[in-house]
Amino acid sequence: MAARPIIIDCDPGQDDAVALFLAMASPDELQLLGITAVAGNVPLPLTERNARMMCDVAESDVPVFAGCAKPMIRPAISAEYIHGETGINGIDVFEPQTPLQEKHAVDFIIDTLLSRDAVTLVPMGPLTNIATAIKRNPEILSHIEEIVIMGGAMREGGNRTPSAEFNILVDPHAADTVLNCGRPITLMGLDVTHKVLSTEERVARIGKLNNPVADATVGMLSFFHRYDTEKYSSQGTPLHDPCTVAYLLQPDLFKTKLCNVSVETESELTMGHTAVDFWHVTKRPKDVNWAYDVDADGFYELLTERLARFPLP
Ligand code: BDR
Ligand code: CA
Repeated sequence: MAARPIIIDCDPGQDDAVALFLAMASPDELQLLGITAVAGNVPLPLTERNARMMCDVAESDVPVFAGCAKPMIRPAISAEYIHGETGINGIDVFEPQTPLQEKHAVDFIIDTLLSRDAVTLVPMGPLTNIATAIKRNPEILSHIEEIVIMGGAMREGGNRTPSAEFNILVDPHAADTVLNCGRPITLMGLDVTHKVLSTEERVARIGKLNNPVADATVGMLSFFHRYDTEKYSSQGTPLHDPCTVAYLLQPDLFKTKLCNVSVETESELTMGHTAVDFWHVTKRPKDVNWAYDVDADGFYELLTERLARFPLP
């Protein structure tokens, strides 16, 4: 079967970076057409720089585009207190050789979708770039096969406020636009990502691979680990964003259910909350494939096997 064409929209972020590596390691299944960066974990100049750094580390020639520097309506929120001031603390920052493309990420998304059919979008940051593209040219919708998003929370509660997961909270209006766009959507929220824990044992297995991509992964996860293990009293940090790519590669790792999911865009108290109608009590259309469970061991098997594909130095 031909590789599935995808665009990854991200705000690296250590977990975004690992998701990029997982996709780059899987060319038989995924044709990575481009990486679009958005402001999120850190400001846009850092997220696009970090995405280009990951291309250098993985020796990938995928083009990188910079997108929206702030959410559609609300002021920007960032997360340096988790990811560090560079967004990818845990590895040394360098000026990447991978160039930044001149085109704006939103134009790249629109032009790519209009020139092809059945492209899958994989957003793993605030949804500003994707929603802006949809609003600017709704004709792109019929060219989208699926949108596989990291965002939202139901039973797990929020990670940035009691109600909201970070990506949805940062741009709830964009999330509302994307979730109501009428295309097939799969949502990987905290209910699954908080089960995908990078325990010391799992990270050590990646460390034994000894290639530059595995080394960068271990460096970043080791930094990420400190904050999250204290916050959640867990054995390791959740590896949120790679769940999207893992779902594309091996969907049977996840349990999903079609549900209606609505985003709170008005209440300051619960802004960005994803109301997941798991038991269909509202009778609203079941139009989002909500992930609620995951085989975490299987996920780390897949990740480790894929990271092993990168060449030794
Ligand atoms: C999400 O927020 C960011 O901090 C991570 O990169 C991930 O996309 C988890 O809530
Ligand atoms: Ca992210």
